[in-house]
Amino acid sequence: MTTTLWRNARLATLAPLPGGEPWGWIGHGALLTEGDTIRWVGGEAALPAGLQAERDVDLGGALLTPGLVDCHTHLVYGGQRAREFELRLQGASYEQIARAGGGIRSTVAATRAAGNEALYAAARERALALMREGVTTIEIKSGYGLSLEHEARCLRVARRLGRELPLTVRTTCLAAHALPPEFDGQPDAYIDAVCAWLPVLHGEGLIDAVDAFCEAIAFSPAQTRRVFDAAQALGLPVKLHAEQLSDSGGAALAASYGALSCDHLEWLSAGGIGAMAAAGTVAVLLPGAFYFLRETRLPPVRTLRDAGVPIAIASDHNPGSSPGLSLLLMLSMGCTFFRLTPEEALRGATINAARALGLTDRGMLQAGQRADFAAWDLEHPNELAYWFGRNPCRRVVAGGLERDA
Ligand code: NIG
Ligand code: FE
Repeated sequence: MTTTLWRNARLATLAPLPGGEPWGWIGHGALLTEGDTIRWVGGEAALPAGLQAERDVDLGGALLTPGLVDCHTHLVYGGQRAREFELRLQGASYEQIARAGGGIRSTVAATRAAGNEALYAAARERALALMREGVTTIEIKSGYGLSLEHEARCLRVARRLGRELPLTVRTTCLAAHALPPEFDGQPDAYIDAVCAWLPVLHGEGLIDAVDAFCEAIAFSPAQTRRVFDAAQALGLPVKLHAEQLSDSGGAALAASYGALSCDHLEWLSAGGIGAMAAAGTVAVLLPGAFYFLRETRLPPVRTLRDAGVPIAIASDHNPGSSPGLSLLLMLSMGCTFFRLTPEEALRGATINAARALGLTDRGMLQAGQRADFAAWDLEHPNELAYWFGRNPCRRVVAGGLERDA
């Protein structure tokens, strides 16, 4: 395995360092990688004497951070929903459009109509856009197929992205996203079907986690519970779209299953926060959906922080509520809308986002972690949340290999 010494960098390691420096800061740093793993990180002056690396890369004083992790996306779908955007601007609400059969259902129709290659090509373009900003790991949810055949097709597209791009892809089955037309008026029968599909999808190796949309316009806590029981029986971790439009107690329910994350959370209650803190569930905030749906209710960031709940931020890329492809913009919005600090925002898109996917091998620059990192043309890491509409990413290393995007 090739060993590489990456020298002359300023490191925001995000690791707990002995001095407790903010950002895990190492001013004149170096990093040794072996294959896809980081073997050593520290000050360049402290490099072990006699250390021999096959390659030596001078990073020219660049700022280095862990590779970014987008822990909540719906990247695989057909069509787009710009017309719905126009209707919402004229006063229609997201809920009204969903109840009138538009919304998620219109994307389901477009997704089912799209061929495998078209679905793959569109999702690939989106993944490349995220990657250009230093993203090295993404989660991709299904949820626009809503039948065994079409959920499987979307999940296979997600797996193929992970095979063909220099990017880690984690897949989540979100079959319990909306009621498909063929189950109109029969939500419980649809949940029965979803529970029967999970072992099949899992048997094909298509799922890393199971998600549901617990909301008045989607599925009830009791229906969510049934999906989670089916996931648990397969040993699959769960996560939940919870408390986005109302407080249905979904977060506490998910936490009782040891959920990896609860996502959205604008209406999260104190009880939900306590349950998440006790279970170690990550709070994934989605400022893109908050912005695009012109929400006004803020997630309870201060209480989450005080309760010690790890906070992540993600793009929630999807055609209905967050058609954005910039995780850096989410860092900016996480600070301006939700009052995260820039350091919390970066942790939210690295270490805490990795935890929201159940990954402990990435998110920090530390010996033993996966060699995923990004070099930025910036003076200070707080600039990652400061600029918007600018991409300061200069180089990306994923699994120890430098890639183009
Ligand atoms: O995460 N909340 C549910 N699902 C998506 C929106 C899906 C859509 O409108 O197509 C979300 O915001
Ligand atoms: Fe989502």
